[in-house]
Amino acid sequence: MAERSDSLTVTDNRTGKTFELPIKDGAVTGMEFRQMKTSEDDFGLMVYDPAFKNTAACRSEITYIDGEKGVLEHRGYPIEQLAEESSFLEVAQLLINGELPSKEEHAAFTQEVTTHTFVHENMKKFIEGFRYDANPMSMLISSVAALSSFYPEAGDVSDPASRRAQMIRLLAKVPTLAAFAYRHTQGLPYVYPRNDLSYPANFLSMVFNINEPDYKPHPVLERAFDVLFILHADHEQNCSTTAMRGVGSSHADPYTALSAAASALYGPLHGGANRMVLYMLERIGTKDNIPNFVEKVKKKEELLMGFGHRVYRNYDPRARIIKKLAHQVFEITGVNPLLEIAVELERIALEDEYFVERKLYPNVDFYSGLIYQAMKFPIDFYPVLFAIGRTAGWLAQWREMLEDKEQKIARPRQLYVGNSTRDYVPMDKR
Ligand code: SDX
Repeated sequence: MAERSDSLTVTDNRTGKTFELPIKDGAVTGMEFRQMKTSEDDFGLMVYDPAFKNTAACRSEITYIDGEKGVLEHRGYPIEQLAEESSFLEVAQLLINGELPSKEEHAAFTQEVTTHTFVHENMKKFIEGFRYDANPMSMLISSVAALSSFYPEAGDVSDPASRRAQMIRLLAKVPTLAAFAYRHTQGLPYVYPRNDLSYPANFLSMVFNINEPDYKPHPVLERAFDVLFILHADHEQNCSTTAMRGVGSSHADPYTALSAAASALYGPLHGGANRMVLYMLERIGTKDNIPNFVEKVKKKEELLMGFGHRVYRNYDPRARIIKKLAHQVFEITGVNPLLEIAVELERIALEDEYFVERKLYPNVDFYSGLIYQAMKFPIDFYPVLFAIGRTAGWLAQWREMLEDKEQKIARPRQLYVGNSTRDYVPMDKR
């Protein structure tokens, strides 16, 4: 038996040449294929992978997912333990800095975030420029980008101190902008951030407080939001993180890059799915209508929103935690009547061969919307809630990309399959 080595032996049958490609971290470097040419002026081979289904764009130490086993870990810590034991700000610190903070480090970080929650007063006028019925996600995306104009020094992404300052500002201000967008759509006055409340409690106060000077959310709802922010914090190289890394790789400032990431998240196939789940459940209306809806899904006339995942071929561990959390919230808010349709839909989907063979399980978006609706958030606000939690992950990934010596401006290649060279035809000759 030939001695085994961490390499790929490739023979280019067009030339008969053989190449040894090293395998590292379970991958072969794409540039290795460029040496495979049929002539000196041949560009060399590329690797074609639409939607990057099997392409690693970076090395990362932040999040590990095992899609087959339904495993999710942040810096090695299982999501189940973080959801049970940690807080969102502590997880944000873990994602960005790589280690769980000491008591003093966490107190200092919390103090910094807490004292940066205000936004420039002009941002209120900016938000007031939207109609009352503007989608809050488009308001968040625009106002995060607008923040860039208040911090011109953020453009110096090579300065670690400036990077850190902007990360603190974004973690602190995104909830404020989100809450202001909500209050604008409701025709309510803005509620300013309060330094005496926790991160989740301050967010709920800015959203729901109606003139109560010492407003405090129910502790179960405060903890539920801390856990929901943790569960949405990061998920390795998903579509919106890819946007954050891509825009950030041109050295655009982090406000602009995060606005692009939030734009990608807005899509109904990504973070916009949580609102689509509720629209879907409302359209189904009753448990009796489920079989008919499932038939439409099989005919590809409908998508089962909140199901399926590019990586998970098992139950999304976050969905399992959110499903449990929903019952705790419903003890306070009353059960969401759509829950029984969701539970029955999940039962059918987990038994039905069509979904089983495609390994379609509930993902993070399937149950989260039921909690948000029970807490009286408007359906169109749900992707905004996703974006608040994911801000921590986007920032951690952005920092890692900038500090990664192997990275440079993202610029994929293409396979040109268009027209070959041809002469221009004057209009009267066409
Ligand atoms: C998030 O990447 C991340 O990590 C994302 C995320 C994060 O934390 O950042 O986890 C958050 O975005 C979760 C996903 C939320 N989106 C939805 O719930 C929308 C519904 N889901 C689908 O659109 C879909 O499952 C995707 C987009 C999530 C994944 O799509 P893929 O990997 O491209 O899978 P696919 O489209 O190739 O589907 C494979 C098969 C197809 O059937 P066949 O062509 O083989 O017959 O499964 C079918 C699809 O038609 N399928 C579905 C389905 N998802 C896939 N059929 C019905 N309903 C679905 N939801």
